[in-house]
Amino acid sequence: MILGIIGCGAIGSDIALFADELDDIETIYLYDKVKEAENRLAGRIKKGRIARDIDELIERSDVVFECASQEAVYQYSEKVLRAGKDLVIMSVGALLDDELRERLAGIAKEKRCKIYLPSGALCGIDGISAARIGGLSEVTLVTTKPPESFGRKDEERVVLYHGPAREAVKLFPQNINVAACVSLAGIGSDKTEVKIVSDPVAARIHHKVLAHGRFGRLRAEVENMPNPKNPKSSYLASLSAMAILKRIIDPIQIG
Ligand SMILES: NC(=O)c1ccc[n+]([C@@H]2O[C@H](COP(=O)([O-])OP(=O)(O)OC[C@H]3O[C@@H](n4cnc5c(N)ncnc54)[C@H](O)[C@@H]3O)[C@@H](O)[C@H]2O)c1
Repeated sequence: MILGIIGCGAIGSDIALFADELDDIETIYLYDKVKEAENRLAGRIKKGRIARDIDELIERSDVVFECASQEAVYQYSEKVLRAGKDLVIMSVGALLDDELRERLAGIAKEKRCKIYLPSGALCGIDGISAARIGGLSEVTLVTTKPPESFGRKDEERVVLYHGPAREAVKLFPQNINVAACVSLAGIGSDKTEVKIVSDPVAARIHHKVLAHGRFGRLRAEVENMPNPKNPKSSYLASLSAMAILKRIIDPIQIG
């Protein structure tokens, strides 16, 4: 399988290094708007090739990973899907744009390819997706961070926001990928509640997903270590992208 990676930053590098060790991966095409980032990553992997441009990356790859930015999702997704290639999107927040999401889903259906959205820095997305089929009455995402993460000096727990996910991502754009992921898996960004909390007791970024529905009740919590390559990214986000790659390759699918 030939892999294409758009974005050679923290997540793109983690995926490339992982894929480089997999027998099923033949070649890894790299593309970044910053040439230095492409060169740096290409120098660290055995199977890496720098794509001449985005068109070459798309043409040569079987699966394309977007690990760049929301801007990149707008720029390249349609091209990838029109070429009939599967696409993994890390900058999930872009898909809260209903017009973009529906347009991309329509192209993927027409071209018989898939758009994969990794669970990112969250746990419990598998449960939310399954529970949605039987009917979900409530989904809440509670994100708790140390005050410094918000540039604050709180000495006690402060709820900074409580309301719909669609509004939360405008006020706290750094929360956009997790809010988008839980919303898209469940009941959408107007019905999903988001709570954002500054807590001096918190040592790490903590996400809690709570859901009620016909299935029963769900509570999934994760405390994330930062990605050593980019402290703003959780390491679990990279691991979830690697898990999607395994899912694409492996004959046995779990969950
Ligand atoms: N789904 C999740 O839970 C989750 C978690 C963390 C990060 N993310 C998202 O994944 C993306 C990558 O994160 P990262 O930590 O690797 O970031 P990063 O800043 O370490 O790397 C991004 C790389 O992409 C390149 N890039 C950006 N826009 C581009 C464009 N339009 N065309 C080509 N190259 C472009 C940059 O030059 C940079 O090298 C971000 O959008 C981030 O928000 C998602």
